[in-house]
Amino acid sequence: MIILGIETSCDETAISVVEAGGDLDNLRFKLLGSAVHSQIDVHKEYGGVFPALAKREHLKNLPIVYKEALKKSGIKESEIEMIAVTVGPGLEPALWTGIAFAEGLSKKLAVPIIPSNHMLGHIASVLLQNEKIEFPALALLVSGGHTELVLLASWKERQKIGETLDDAVGEAFDKVARMLGLPYPGGPEISKLAEEARQKNIVLQKRLPRPMLHSGDFNFSFSGLKTAVLYYLRDNPNFDKAAVAREFEDAVIDTLLSKTKAALEKHLPETLIIGGGVIANKALRENFLKLESDYPRLKILIPDRTLTTDNATMIAAAGFIEYLSGEKLELRADGNLDIS
Ligand code: KG4
Ligand code: ZN
Repeated sequence: MIILGIETSCDETAISVVEAGGDLDNLRFKLLGSAVHSQIDVHKEYGGVFPALAKREHLKNLPIVYKEALKKSGIKESEIEMIAVTVGPGLEPALWTGIAFAEGLSKKLAVPIIPSNHMLGHIASVLLQNEKIEFPALALLVSGGHTELVLLASWKERQKIGETLDDAVGEAFDKVARMLGLPYPGGPEISKLAEEARQKNIVLQKRLPRPMLHSGDFNFSFSGLKTAVLYYLRDNPNFDKAAVAREFEDAVIDTLLSKTKAALEKHLPETLIIGGGVIANKALRENFLKLESDYPRLKILIPDRTLTTDNATMIAAAGFIEYLSGEKLELRADGNLDIS
């Protein structure tokens, strides 16, 4: 089945043409063509994503991105059999632009629309690497808006077992980057500086907190860590940026690893999937892959770098899963759409 995926939940206008096949036990996806227009430059001067601007940019770029994705795929418009569009979670004005575009196309091409869950998309992104997922699976989702641990008994039976009580981990990266005078989005900038500090063996003379490590649940909190950085910078005006970046990144890694390990030990999944923009982080990826030696029977799946940040390929994949499992979300933007 040829699926057109549409993603406009945040600051990326993305469209992909994906060939989907198989069944829920044996999903097969092949990316035929995709195009992404990133609005990072537009939002940079605000230090974050500005919803009204995002909406305007999506409206402007959707037709262009659509044409480009189709052209790259070599597929004719008339060959599209289904449209999958993100309905949440995300910025509602931005989500509506994708939904309206999908509705227009659906009428024109007389094909159905499947409303897709963006977070299921982040989990599904590993399927584009021809990975087979054994259930139960545990998913750690780390993005600009979310930090959550999700237990999947199957594709359809999903349970959120932990989440952040305040800032998302990507948000913490972005805010700390801003304190250090680094541009938006801050994750890649912090990552570069932290890497530099590791190479030069530069260490911060203070240990930042690892929040909620002993809370006894699977929840996270990053706002205290962010505030600890703020106080450190205030009290040490001659701070070394790279040292701060490294210690902050290490604190984040320790926290994510510790909670994930606790969830692995309690729920004994067959597979661990890590998805979301933050898993583009090199040190985080390396540390999670190292878990394989502690849990030799666990299969650890991390998407390729091209699939970690927001894209429409994962939305087409999530749409196909929702279609096969008979899950029907409403075709309505829902900023807080849950994964469960
Ligand atoms: O999944 P995503 O593209 O968008 C959302 O759905 O939120 O995630 C974006 C987040 C941003 O906060 C960005 O700073 C972070 O992912 N990010 C990183 C890295 N690359 C992107 N964080 C840490 N290290 C990176 N290399
Ligand atoms: Zn995302």
